[in-house]
Amino acid sequence: MKDTNAPDFYTGSPVDADDLRFREAFLDELWETLATKHALLTAPRRTGKTSVMDHLKHCPRNGFSVVSLNVQDLSHPADFFQTIFDTFLDHHPNYFRDRIAAGWGLVTGALGKIAEVGAGGFKIALRESDPNWRDNWRQHGTQFLQQIRGHDQRVLLVIDELPDMLLNLRREEEGEKLLREFLAWWRSQRQEPHPKNDVVRWLIGGSVNLAGTLDSLGMVDHINDLEDVALPPLTEAHVIEFVHEMLIARDVKFDGSLPTRMLERLGRPIPLFMQMATQELYRRWKRRPDGGDTVNPPLTAEDVDLVFDDLVKSSAAQDKLQHYYSRIARYYTEPRLSAAYELLNKISLTPDGLSRDVLFQEFDRVIQQAGLKLPDHQRKREFNGMLRDLENDFYVAEIAENQYDFASGVLKSWWKKYYA
Ligand SMILES: Nc1ncnc2c1ncn2[C@@H]1O[C@H](COP(=O)(O)OP(=O)(O)O)[C@@H](O)[C@H]1O
Ligand SMILES: [Mg+2]
Repeated sequence: MKDTNAPDFYTGSPVDADDLRFREAFLDELWETLATKHALLTAPRRTGKTSVMDHLKHCPRNGFSVVSLNVQDLSHPADFFQTIFDTFLDHHPNYFRDRIAAGWGLVTGALGKIAEVGAGGFKIALRESDPNWRDNWRQHGTQFLQQIRGHDQRVLLVIDELPDMLLNLRREEEGEKLLREFLAWWRSQRQEPHPKNDVVRWLIGGSVNLAGTLDSLGMVDHINDLEDVALPPLTEAHVIEFVHEMLIARDVKFDGSLPTRMLERLGRPIPLFMQMATQELYRRWKRRPDGGDTVNPPLTAEDVDLVFDDLVKSSAAQDKLQHYYSRIARYYTEPRLSAAYELLNKISLTPDGLSRDVLFQEFDRVIQQAGLKLPDHQRKREFNGMLRDLENDFYVAEIAENQYDFASGVLKSWWKKYYA
């Protein structure tokens, strides 16, 4: 039976601010950074970035008003600003109308037409407010920041999934030029005034290693003013606490082998899989015949194994795991792309991962098969770069000195089953 006070399971959507746990210390650190700096928060999908960003919005500190948006599907700076203005109006209607829009014809005109245009009105009216938005994005963006800077109110702009937008932008006509111009404009706006003296603050996030993406385009200097903040992985203690709390609140009986086995199967815990597996354990318990403790012995490590084996095959987990597979093809470039797939295949077949030397030999083999002739030092550099990418993107972890294994146990089992 579910205790009415039992915390909910979240198996995909961001965790509500009121339910967010294990992030207190990180939120303190993030707010402290944002007091004086612009920041960059990147971590793979399903690790809890958006949940943290939502918390910033719902429980703002230090006098900030927070505007947060997901820009994954946008592909032009003009869309970017239109979406920011629209979201700003949604989140802080009075402030936006009375202060930001004040004396700014482009925006007041569009506000006046909302009723006329109907649903989705502001964005449409905004788009129509300047037939040359696409050429004038810089002017409108600059004006926007000036409008904010005309007041004392601090404004934190949270931009989620930015790397995706930058990749979309690059696919536009003359995309590389556009990307470079946009990043250069933005950087200059972040530097002048210095963030310490600015009421505008940016927090940029995404599931793709932004530095890696821009590095391959030679544009990494455009974002090196941002303070890198890493979302810490959940610890073993967090996992244990989570399992205990969620199961005990639901009157599930389990023995001491269960939480330990959970830790083993999860590996470096991807929070989503921790939630899904714990929820499945609870469902398993509920499906048992209702006959009291004599009929229902406590759940054990064996139940954990069954749940994980099912999880790897479940359709609920498929698309989430598929993302980890596909993003390599989308974001890695050759020779790292092919080598990464081959190396992960190899690692997935081992019980305890592979040594750095073996991985390098394997990398060499892939390069040669592809007919690539790279000088020694460059092969080494590409290999090191690839391994670093795989570590940063949470595919692998150095589990002992010079020994690499999948970071996530769930991903490892899945990879082995479907790809190795
Ligand atoms: N602090 C947390 N505690 C427990 N589970 C979490 C936590 N943060 C995230 N999750 C799990 O991860 C899932 C995805 O969270 P989300 O914030 O959308 O991640 P991201 O933005 O990195 O993709 C949630 O549905 C939930 O299952
Ligand atoms: Mg997210």
